[in-house]
Amino acid sequence: MAQVIIDNISNSLGSFLEGKYYSKIVVLVDEHTKKFCYPIVKSNLPNHKLITIKSGEHNKTIATCQSIWEQMTNFELDRHSLLINLGGGVIGDMGGFCAATYKRGIDFIQIPTTLLSQVDASVGGKLGIDFLGFKNHIGVFSLPNAVLIDAFFLQTLPKNELRSGFAEIIKHCLIRDKNKWNEIKVKDLINQDLADLIKHSVEIKKAVVAEDPTEKGLRKILNFGHTLGHAIETFYLDKGKKRLLHGEAIAAGMIMESYLAFEKKMIDEKTFLDIEEFLFTVYGRVEIDQIDFENILALTQQDKKNKGKIVRAAIIDGIGSCQYDVSLSKKEMLRALQYYKGI
Ligand SMILES: NC(=O)c1ccc[n+]([C@@H]2O[C@H](COP(=O)([O-])OP(=O)(O)OC[C@H]3O[C@@H](n4cnc5c(N)ncnc54)[C@H](O)[C@@H]3O)[C@@H](O)[C@H]2O)c1
Ligand SMILES: [Zn+2]
Repeated sequence: MAQVIIDNISNSLGSFLEGKYYSKIVVLVDEHTKKFCYPIVKSNLPNHKLITIKSGEHNKTIATCQSIWEQMTNFELDRHSLLINLGGGVIGDMGGFCAATYKRGIDFIQIPTTLLSQVDASVGGKLGIDFLGFKNHIGVFSLPNAVLIDAFFLQTLPKNELRSGFAEIIKHCLIRDKNKWNEIKVKDLINQDLADLIKHSVEIKKAVVAEDPTEKGLRKILNFGHTLGHAIETFYLDKGKKRLLHGEAIAAGMIMESYLAFEKKMIDEKTFLDIEEFLFTVYGRVEIDQIDFENILALTQQDKKNKGKIVRAAIIDGIGSCQYDVSLSKKEMLRALQYYKGI
């Protein structure tokens, strides 16, 4: 398990680098993290190079990887080099993938700077890129040498990005911690104790991943909300203005999958209505056109959790408890979409 340090970045970076000798250090940023986060990191690093890529999920591609690999090659990075991924989940997933494959793998650390990447993407060793419109279609499991988390970076994060990351925190509570759910569900996002919630989420994700690193079983519970959520996110990936942030799609997915939990009598009505009310209050309702239901359902077929043609999802069977490999029929998922839309 990678070492996760939640601390002030100058402390954590200092202690990570202490006693290590890297032949070269490169920091990977996008234009936003270059502006807002890099100045803080720069002053805590010895001599290093910088690679800047364009921000956004649509740049999480093999073409961007090629440009990163090319610059790593031009900088003459050898196998004793370090890549520091400074940014959100896109930088972490793609930079990690580039590091894990460059010369069959060099050291890399994740410094996640969005809430989503701090509570989710930076823990668990999943790396990769999107391909042919499919999310995280090409990738590997490989652990970073360390994950350094500092909530200070969140100060410059746009509000909608913060809200997107909060969805993963909610997910962690729903699948693993009833008490925490009871604490968060009565507060607005701005009144949440984020520093505490980041620590809480990281602990949950670490514990689940430690039991099942390669997602043969238990780890699948982290996909709650993601079967339909991912399909919706993927569907809107190339829809310009209607594009959804990951957490916004997952929030919608959690409502739909909780509805299916209720339909399957895995949770009672009151529990379902509680979840639905909180998620609608924080996220509102995503506008999904009925005409798109078929295409969204078709995308659930691509889900990496499936076995053959059967869609398998993680579905809660109580607050703080979740089952995995629950088969979902197309009809059930259609009903969930219809329910969510209110038809
Ligand atoms: N590997 C995993 O286990 C895992 C888990 C969940 C999500 N993901 C991946 O994570 C990605 C989403 O990550 P994300 O939500 O962090 O998106 P992101 O990396 O696109 O970052 C969101 C935006 O915030 C900007 N930004 C980042 N830090 C900032 C800061 N401190 N101040 C101001 N702006 C800042 C970025 O430049 C970008 O524009 C998806 O590609 C998803 O597939 C991976
Ligand atoms: Zn997610």
